[in-house]
Amino acid sequence: MDRLNQAVVFLGPPGAGKGTQAKELAKKYGVPHLSTGDMLRECIAKGTALGLQAKPIMERGELVPDSLVLKMVKQRIENADCSFGFVFDGFPRTVAQAQYFGELLKRCGYTQPVVVHFAIDPALVLKRITGRRMCKVSGEIYNIFERPTKVPGRCDNDGGDLEQRPDDREEIVAPRLAAYAKQTAPLVAYYRRLGRLHDVDAAQSVEEVSRKVLEIVRAPR
Ligand code: AP5
Repeated sequence: MDRLNQAVVFLGPPGAGKGTQAKELAKKYGVPHLSTGDMLRECIAKGTALGLQAKPIMERGELVPDSLVLKMVKQRIENADCSFGFVFDGFPRTVAQAQYFGELLKRCGYTQPVVVHFAIDPALVLKRITGRRMCKVSGEIYNIFERPTKVPGRCDNDGGDLEQRPDDREEIVAPRLAAYAKQTAPLVAYYRRLGRLHDVDAAQSVEEVSRKVLEIVRAPR
């Protein structure tokens, strides 16, 4: 198996396909797939203090404050399993998060991340978001329109129940997209200036996006 040995970040609007691709790439390289969204949802499910703070914010489609997210990320990437690289989806999401992340990476012996920008027209993500269903057991991602399960409501891999995320309701999509445009989209210019940004047309098929992502990650640098 090839070694990743770098931090890869998937940046893009809600529903662009970051989680779908991050799971696949991390599996290919045998490294952790990290997602601040998943970490926060786990805190909510466990009823931790952080989960209690994050829940109403996420349900409104807003970003959780940097201070809470950064503490959680620091603990996670200092874990030994991140020593051979990792794939981050949904982080960093603000310029302050990106600056802190850069410092943290330096301390862990990494360069700035390879950033894959999932570029897509916001009008296209509504169907992807409202159609998304996730397995309660494995977190496998499906879509009732684009990637339906063989048996409705049941995961193809383990038969687990499928659920819809509370923030995937249609009325929460607009505030999520607005938060992206205001707070996260400036990271495109930030990482482009650092020479670390690579664009992918995220409106293409899952297979085509995977191919492009792999090409970027494998390119010598
Ligand atoms: P988070 O969980 O990170 O969600 P997100 O960024 O809004 O992204 P999504 O998970 O909605 O989409 P995705 O791009 O991963 O798409 P997916 O692959 O699932 O964040 C949730 C909330 O947590 C935030 O709103 C915020 O409150 C908080 N939060 C998280 N991180 C934070 C941070 N760093 N700072 C502050 N707050 C934070 O695909 C979507 C659907 O499309 C699926 O059904 C899939 O099957 C389908 N699909 C995927 N690819 C394709 C394709 N190529 N063609 C057709 N269909 C496709």
